[in-house]
Amino acid sequence: MTTSNVEDALPKHIAIIMDGNGRWAKQRGVTRAEGHEAGAESVRETVEGCREMGIEVLTLYAFSTENWRRSRIEVSALFRLLSKYVKKELENIHKEDIRVSIMGRMEGLPKKVVKDLEYSMERTANNRSMILNVAINYGGRGEISDAARAIASEVQRGELELDAIDEACLARHLYRPALPDPDLLVRTSGEMRISNFMLWQLSYTEIVMMKTLWPDFRKPHLHEAIAEYQQRQRRFGGR
Ligand code: FPP
Repeated sequence: MTTSNVEDALPKHIAIIMDGNGRWAKQRGVTRAEGHEAGAESVRETVEGCREMGIEVLTLYAFSTENWRRSRIEVSALFRLLSKYVKKELENIHKEDIRVSIMGRMEGLPKKVVKDLEYSMERTANNRSMILNVAINYGGRGEISDAARAIASEVQRGELELDAIDEACLARHLYRPALPDPDLLVRTSGEMRISNFMLWQLSYTEIVMMKTLWPDFRKPHLHEAIAEYQQRQRRFGGR
């Protein structure tokens, strides 16, 4: 494994756990849905900030497989918001040459959301300047078990030798195998958890936890997280 000093180097791939919408809403005495709505503005600004800086991949954790445990009202507000965001922002995203990618289990999502997400991927399929990868109905353990099932079925069909199962093989069976592992993970709102996010891919990712609640997250926060990343020495297990 290589050793790298990231001094001044930009992370290629930034992943964000956008946390704190509910607390932001509570502080203001508004509904949780309004907290998520305010969070969508932070998404817009973060996408813009990453594009301006030349970040290659931005992954956002928008809806986990565990988020189904929230109230029906909140879950449907989140899905409505996703469709609204696609409608409002897609042309901008396209104009900025950003490709949309979705990561997670499409089954189980409302038909309208699936249609909107598929359209956003189709519309931006040829864009090359940045990838906006959105994790929806996503869970890291689920992703690894889906990969294990896909590998087992290839072995069962005689298409894969048992001996060919190694780390690279498993990585090829994840939802978005073409994406590099995140260099930087940002979690807002002060929580110190991974919450079932990209468990395989985060092995050597630098983690920056910020106190800011997601709806308050703006470009200066993004720049601050990147500056902190640039102070780190990455060793990837080496010396
Ligand atoms: C966590 O805050 C946030 C979410 C579960 C949803 C994130 C979704 C958005 C920001 C909406 C827009 C997304 C896109 C991609 C357009 P929380 O509700 O867990 O906050 P809390 O911990 O303070 O309750």
